Amino acid sequence: MKKTIIRGTGRYLPERVVKNQEMSQWMDTSDEWIEQRTGIQERRWIDEDSKVGASDLGLIASRIALERAGWQPEDLDLIIFATLSPDINFPGSGCLLQSKLGLKSTPALDIRQQCTGFLYGLQIADAYIKSGHANRILFVGGEVHSTGLERANRGRDVTVIFGDGAGAICLEGVETDEDVGLIATSLHAQGDYAESLMLEAPASRLSPRLTHEMIDDGRVWPKMDGRNIFKLAITRLPEITQTVLSKAGLTINDIDMVFPHQANLRINQSYQKAMGIADDKIFNNIQKYGNTTAGSIPIALDEAIEKNLLPEKSTVLFVGLGAGLTWGAMIYRFL
Ligand code: ACO
Repeated sequence: MKKTIIRGTGRYLPERVVKNQEMSQWMDTSDEWIEQRTGIQERRWIDEDSKVGASDLGLIASRIALERAGWQPEDLDLIIFATLSPDINFPGSGCLLQSKLGLKSTPALDIRQQCTGFLYGLQIADAYIKSGHANRILFVGGEVHSTGLERANRGRDVTVIFGDGAGAICLEGVETDEDVGLIATSLHAQGDYAESLMLEAPASRLSPRLTHEMIDDGRVWPKMDGRNIFKLAITRLPEITQTVLSKAGLTINDIDMVFPHQANLRINQSYQKAMGIADDKIFNNIQKYGNTTAGSIPIALDEAIEKNLLPEKSTVLFVGLGAGLTWGAMIYRFL
């Protein structure tokens, strides 16, 4: 039977390091507040005038992943790009990346799943592979948040948490009877909570889509009910982890490494405690990168592989929750 196998990973974080202290030039905040509430010490932001978009970060990450897989761009049957911060409103960043990779007709699609972009993307890739529609897929999760954050007191809860970055993964369908690949998945969405974390304007439901008044009212910046999202995360992440473990017939002790989405270190610590996960079996890098949304799990996975933290034939668990509301988990075993 065909299994979806990771052949190569890559990541790219912009070189510019923005420390917590720098935030206080724009708003009332402090290194202490940010680190205590979120665990973040610094994040990477693109250079102000660089005109770099999500597809540019994704391109560098993709080239690394392709090289590690030993593939040429021409080997790809499909590109899946997950982002909430596309380079332009349309067409999607997947099409822009496809062109930057020098491809002329390879299909490319964007998904808008925010922090669960990697989880939804992997499941879509798995479905394409198992249905025979594609065999070699490039998944990219990438964000340029920094150009879309309000650098003022009004936006300080959101602005301090987001970072720019991209992760890429080459996925291939392989015929094998071994119990490898995506072993169990569970994805959910609940649009009732859409307004708990959203960027409203410009919007097709508004006519005109954008006015000076909307800009003045701050409707062009992301808004978040952080406390509510936090509460939802600390209950739903353990619940969904239990669901995928049961589906796979495994316990948390069978997992070599857990990769939670990097939204807030306190969320991940609460999750770790609830699940009884040892310190060396959970991977966090939010301290250095902030929340890179669709990039967060693939960036973390690439970093863990590079640091040789995953034993051979590792079983890993990915889990996340974010805007939508969307949440999900999956278990993957390396070939
Ligand atoms: N610096 C200083 N003070 C601040 C800042 C800041 N950057 N931001 C908010 N505050 C203030 C608030 O105004 C508030 O002041 P008040 O008590 O006088 O009203 C106080 O700090 C406490 O605010 P809370 O919002 O209650 O702080 P909390 O401890 O909840 O931390 C945070 C806020 C970090 C945003 C947290 O709620 C969180 O991480 N939530 C979850 C985020 C998340 O997981 N999002 C989903 C993923 S993102 C995606 O999907 C795109």
